[in-house]
Amino acid sequence: MRKMFIAGNWKMNGSKLQAQELLSALYDNLADLKNVDCVVCPASPYLDYVSSIIKSSNKQTIELGAQNITPKNIPAFTGEISPAMLGEFGANYVIIGHSERRKLLHETDFLVAEKVDVALDAGLVPILCVGETQEEQAAGVGFAVVARQLEAVLGDVCIDELSRAVIAYEPVWAIGTGLSATPEQAQSMHAHIRKLIANYDVTIAEKIRIIYGGSVNSANATQLLEQPDIDGCLVGGASLKHQDFSDICHIAMGIRK
Ligand code: PGA
Repeated sequence: MRKMFIAGNWKMNGSKLQAQELLSALYDNLADLKNVDCVVCPASPYLDYVSSIIKSSNKQTIELGAQNITPKNIPAFTGEISPAMLGEFGANYVIIGHSERRKLLHETDFLVAEKVDVALDAGLVPILCVGETQEEQAAGVGFAVVARQLEAVLGDVCIDELSRAVIAYEPVWAIGTGLSATPEQAQSMHAHIRKLIANYDVTIAEKIRIIYGGSVNSANATQLLEQPDIDGCLVGGASLKHQDFSDICHIAMGIRK
């Protein structure tokens, strides 16, 4: 059975004080959490700070993820973040290909593939985001867009390597809008992604975790997480609220015991 994976994408939110308060509340709320991988992804300047809180907690409940990684592992690259730096700060995961970066920074499928390659090479787990825009959905090309995004990565890394990644299906129209995909919509895209992977390797398709993101909260998480091909969530806004995020983690725990 695939283990549930719940990640909080804090985006460009927060401060040291907020990070400290949020984590302290999460440790209180999640003391009983089992069988769920729970990850928080703060903005880069806070990685070291959050990492030190995680270390000093002496608990395994919460792991650390980053929101970005360099596409080329060369030191002469101003402003970028190397995998070794992420490793030193205790990050095991990194979000790659988020639609905000694809849109606002024009990150291409090719660049995303390069980043996934760099992360996997360094032993980090990429949380690879894919998803169609509202226009693409309206034009009926959502499945094709997601296939293109995934296949671009598989042009750069082999399926065996990709098996260590987590794939996040995030329909762009659902992110930060309060308008989540319905459980049926999400399930059908997740099944599509699993089938695409099965074209490369059936065993890996069964094992790889495919999580959903886009306006997930504690009120809609149950129905989404009950879908057979949804193995967790990438949570944005609700991950900044300790009660909501812990409730989502507990819902995940209750569904796959
Ligand atoms: P949201 O963001 O939960 O606020 O919609 C999700 C994401 O961008 O990863």
